Amino acid sequence: MKKAIILTIIVIGIFTLNACEKEGGNATEVSANGSSKSHNMGRNCMDCHKSGGEGKGWFFVAGTVYDSTITHSLPNGTVYLYTAPNGGGTLKYTIQVDARGNFYTTDAIDFGTGLYPVVSGNTTSRNMSSSITTGQCNSCHGVSTDKIWTK
Ligand code: HEC
Ligand code: HEC
Repeated sequence: MKKAIILTIIVIGIFTLNACEKEGGNATEVSANGSSKSHNMGRNCMDCHKSGGEGKGWFFVAGTVYDSTITHSLPNGTVYLYTAPNGGGTLKYTIQVDARGNFYTTDAIDFGTGLYPVVSGNTTSRNMSSSITTGQCNSCHGVSTDKIWTK
């Protein structure tokens, strides 16, 4: 009986260790203009980049910006999060879009009662008129509404 219990504990221990090795774990990952180490444009990054997920780093905000063709991503823009619509209220966070058109951050984001995204490209800024309390931009954009795009 004792042996069986000890064996069970060892077996559970081995499985737990293996499970941990497969997970990406947390790490500091913040997108920057010009950087090209991201991937999976258009997908919901937090399918994997979350606690227990396989992605490296757990993102608070992440997504992809496209150009007006909606088929090509638009590199090196900027995502802003404001407390009021149309760039109003206080600018709380600024996230640079990388060279693949992706933006992401593992820095903590406090959404409060909701933040309003503004996305700037080379010549044009576009505002989301409603507020968000989740940073999983590609869970809506490209799924239940248009992809995020600007010029
Ligand atoms: C299907 C799962 C999956 C999805 C979806 C996913 N990733 Fe990842 N990501 C990974 C894994 C696994 C790694 C670690 C191995 C690697 O670097 O490829 C990773 C690594 C990364 C890294 C770190 C690369 C480095 O060199 O340090 C960045 C940045 C990144 N992902 C960004 C993103 C962005 C942005 C999105 C969404 C547009 C995204 N990922 C979507 C699984 C995913
Ligand atoms: C819960 C779903 C959802 C999430 C999450 C979401 N959006 Fe949106 N977004 C929408 C919808 C629906 C619209 C169109 C209506 C509106 O503007 O409120 C929109 C509109 C926009 C627009 C304006 C598009 C236009 O027509 O001009 C931009 C830019 C935008 N979102 C950026 C973002 C960014 C950046 C994020 C993540 C930080 C994000 N959105 C997260 C649903 C979402």
